[in-house]
Amino acid sequence: MKYPKILIDKVNQRSKGFNLEGINEGAGPNEPALMIVGEAPGREEIESHIPFHGASGKELMKSLASIGLKREEVYITSAVRSRPFGVKKVFSKRENKEVTKYPNRKPTQKEVLAHAPFLDYEIKNVKPKVIVAVGTTALRRLLGKDYSISEYHGKAIKNTPILQLNEKENGFVWSKQKYTVIAMYHPAAVFYNRKLSKIIENDWLNVKAYIKKPK
Ligand code: URA
Repeated sequence: MKYPKILIDKVNQRSKGFNLEGINEGAGPNEPALMIVGEAPGREEIESHIPFHGASGKELMKSLASIGLKREEVYITSAVRSRPFGVKKVFSKRENKEVTKYPNRKPTQKEVLAHAPFLDYEIKNVKPKVIVAVGTTALRRLLGKDYSISEYHGKAIKNTPILQLNEKENGFVWSKQKYTVIAMYHPAAVFYNRKLSKIIENDWLNVKAYIKKPK
């Protein structure tokens, strides 16, 4: 989705001073079968401009395929739409000197708040009925800090309001509109714990009952 310039300017203003690179717009149809909300893009996504295009994306596409969905049928976005990066000085043996690296990292709560206008705008315009929150950052952005993936993974929270920016745009309030939110491990979780693979596979099968195929 093309974000309006006024929205980009607002988020850039709110993000001043944070180590965030580029903007990777969310993508997919309006009134999709599902909306997927992730954490934040990484280097691959910033370069390709395609959400979930890297290694996590491959895992996510496998999960979608397991319930008969293609990328084009879902709307994919995340809590933060720029790449959060760290700044690390490391010794490069190859160059025989200290070099600075800028690795991907998790977004902070302040960055999630700074980028909230993007996700609010997308939800308002895309009008999903069912939202799959992949990972803790996404789940808490939508439902608050009482929710954890370890407790809710694979579960649907039905007919629930979600968090959106308040009028002053400095915190969150509950939406009037209600949604079905399904909590899911982030697809990258399997890279750190292979045992999650089977659990994630089963959790995705639960999503099938909630799929709304586009009209
Ligand atoms: N992780 C996310 O949450 N989103 C992406 O686009 C890529 C990795």
